[in-house]
Amino acid sequence: MAAGKGTRLKSKHPKVLHEAGGKPLLAHVIASAQNVVAARDIFVVVGHEATRVQGAVSAMGVNFVLQAEQRGTAHAVMVARDAIKPYDQVIVLSGDAPMIRTQTLERLRDFHNEKKSAMTILTAILTDPAGYGRVVRKNAASAEVQAIVEDKAATAKQKKLREINSGIYAFSVKPLLQYLDNIRNDNAHGEFYLPDLASILGKAKQRVVAIDAGNYHEVLGANTRAELAEIDQNMRMAKCEELMAAGATIFYPQSCVIDADVEIGPDTVIEPYVQLLGKTRVGGDCRIRSYSVIRDTTVGDGVTILPGCVIDESSVRDGATLGPYSRLRPGSEICEGARVGNFVETKKARLGKGSKANHLTYLGDAEIGEGVNIGAGTILCNYDGVHKYKTTIEDGVFVGSDSTLVAPVTIGKGAYIGAASCITDDVPADALALGRARQTVKEGWAKEKRQSQKKEHSAKHA
Ligand code: UD1
Ligand code: CA
Repeated sequence: MAAGKGTRLKSKHPKVLHEAGGKPLLAHVIASAQNVVAARDIFVVVGHEATRVQGAVSAMGVNFVLQAEQRGTAHAVMVARDAIKPYDQVIVLSGDAPMIRTQTLERLRDFHNEKKSAMTILTAILTDPAGYGRVVRKNAASAEVQAIVEDKAATAKQKKLREINSGIYAFSVKPLLQYLDNIRNDNAHGEFYLPDLASILGKAKQRVVAIDAGNYHEVLGANTRAELAEIDQNMRMAKCEELMAAGATIFYPQSCVIDADVEIGPDTVIEPYVQLLGKTRVGGDCRIRSYSVIRDTTVGDGVTILPGCVIDESSVRDGATLGPYSRLRPGSEICEGARVGNFVETKKARLGKGSKANHLTYLGDAEIGEGVNIGAGTILCNYDGVHKYKTTIEDGVFVGSDSTLVAPVTIGKGAYIGAASCITDDVPADALALGRARQTVKEGWAKEKRQSQKKEHSAKHA
């Protein structure tokens, strides 16, 4: 179910597209469900901002059912009637409860089958159950459930019940579809509540049971921003624990932001306040120092990333060193053992094996060979205000400091560029290119100037 608006988030974005652990809530729910049934057997009920919600997860291969008007969780199932009909059993999940694990869904399914139940409710025990539907068991020792009462409708005594409805259920399709239309909307919101089926089925002598999820974190719903933050933190901590279990060292994991799909090799050390986002993959034996933010990037083995680097959609090969304060924009490729230093920005640039750009440099739209030295303050002028052009720097070139290379331009193998040159034409291999005015020296000039200034001064104040 993913059709709701999420009023309590006070957001213009649909609730299920809010992110935790770096992915939309709904994507987490689908990912868990996908390990239990094939994507083609998953139906997502969309309604509020249906096109956006659909777009966000369509790549996962699931089906969609439109609930044009959102008239409650039971109504969401009603509109999916035709989709459900061919199956014997169905698991109903909430698109806003993203922590649910595959193993728990399997336990729910197995318990449902074992009890030959019509409806099986996944529950949890909360210290503060406020806001959730409460599960009223027939008696404390029994798995059988008498009813689920929504928070707003609960009596003072029922409000004290700490076992809550997770909003995740297993149903046998036949009784579900037979009794679904018996649900009425005579409640606080005028909505059709799916939990009402518990008492309806019970009265019809159908078996309704509950199973405790055990870990209450798994069923937390992101109804408010505060709950969203709590879920995000739980997910990130769980991710860090998983990475640490696989051999990565993460100092002060509470301070790191690591997305769900990130991979890290063994013996890599992640320092405090690092963000690893999107599809980033880091190899083994790396060190990523504090305050680096790395997104959708592949990092090889033995790479050192010094503090304060910002890296997007790039690849950094084995043994390279970056930073402090390097900025790699999309399409940067830093090859084996290469080095990018302080305040160097790269974009769509390949820096060959062992090459260095250590200080204050811009490398945009460039193909740079092996063993090249790019001097401090070098700028590749890749843009004429309309078009972008490429710079090619072949192996073993030495670019003197403070040079500007106006693209398109090619510097041949082993050539030298004198410091502070403005290079506008190709330079052949092994040549020296100088693109600046020759130095002139005027002997005694400064001394004479000082003396004439002094004279002027004393004349004025005489
Ligand atoms: C629901 C349960 C409550 C339970 C809680 C657990 C009901 C009436 N109550 O309450 O017992 O404790 O979940 O988190 O079901 N949705 C639709 N279409 C609709 C309405 C909702 O698709 O017409 C979707 C929402 O997008 C959401 C999910 O169903 O993903 C749950 O709806 P929500 O409004 O969050 O229900 P709760 O009030 O949390
Ligand atoms: Ca909810």
